[in-house]
Amino acid sequence: MTSPQSGTSSSAPPADRAEPELQRHFDDTIAHNQRIEPRDWMPEGYRRTLIRQIAQHAHSEIIGMQPEGEWITRAPSLRRKAILFAKVQDEAGHGLYLYSAAETLGADRADLTERLIEGRQKYSSIFNYPTPTFADVGVIGWFVDGAAICNQVPLCRSSYGPYARAMVRVCKEESFHQRQGYELLLTMMRGTDEQRAMVQDAVDRWWWPSLMMFGPPDDDSPNSAQSMAWKIKRHTNDELRQRFVDMTVPQAEKLGVTLPDPELRWNEERGHHDFGTPDWSELKRVISGDGPCNAQRMERRRTAHEEGAWVREAAAAHAAKQDKRREEGSAA
Ligand SMILES: [Fe+2]
Ligand SMILES: [Fe+2]
Repeated sequence: MTSPQSGTSSSAPPADRAEPELQRHFDDTIAHNQRIEPRDWMPEGYRRTLIRQIAQHAHSEIIGMQPEGEWITRAPSLRRKAILFAKVQDEAGHGLYLYSAAETLGADRADLTERLIEGRQKYSSIFNYPTPTFADVGVIGWFVDGAAICNQVPLCRSSYGPYARAMVRVCKEESFHQRQGYELLLTMMRGTDEQRAMVQDAVDRWWWPSLMMFGPPDDDSPNSAQSMAWKIKRHTNDELRQRFVDMTVPQAEKLGVTLPDPELRWNEERGHHDFGTPDWSELKRVISGDGPCNAQRMERRRTAHEEGAWVREAAAAHAAKQDKRREEGSAA
């Protein structure tokens, strides 16, 4: 991994003298809610934290194509196929913006991909659950893309410019994803008893894993405080989880499904819904590689990477040829 920052400070005073001043400038920028841009000085911890978060986010978009991608060839109509195709393609696009954002911090995309494939970097736990019925496509759109919106809308105000700007377009597309999922479920709920049962079954399976998407509870989330201070993150895991529950309950009522939590109820005093505790040991298990589909997801990603080797080689050869032509042109 290279660090372009160290190479751009030729006009700055020597690092040992400059650092407190640069740190002050960085702190002021954050305090005034202004953006840190790629050419600005930033503390190493800030850079490392961002690279890790953006890479994990990018990996999640790419791995996240798999659970629903399995349904593209089996979608029940041409219309559903076209919608699903567009949605899964959007997720590929999100992955690419995010890898590009990580590159502005000096990360190398090939290196990040390698880290994912070797299991050294994580992706969201949610994509390790199976999609046995077409109702899963709808529930993923509704819950998983809904949770992504809760997570990502505040990231549009993240302190790092390229990340925040990438989130603006990503969020617009996520809201299309959520609506297509919800519309699919509305259609199924107007169908047969079997279809309604299929929707309820998918809701039962995805509810708790969706709540886990926001990460461990705040008192077990050691990096959160620093990320909040740096304004990379704007809300804690528990705040975002609450926001998701409050947003989803009325949608469930309108749809006519039951969220599988006996403790779920409106709390007048708090002005929020109370809800039960997710099984945090399950989250730990899935994150550490022992979820229902971890092995399958990684295997598919690895195979896709190997099968794509010729494309990368061809693109590199083409770029080299163009460089050579340009050099010959400027020499002539
Ligand atoms: Fe996405
Ligand atoms: Fe999405």
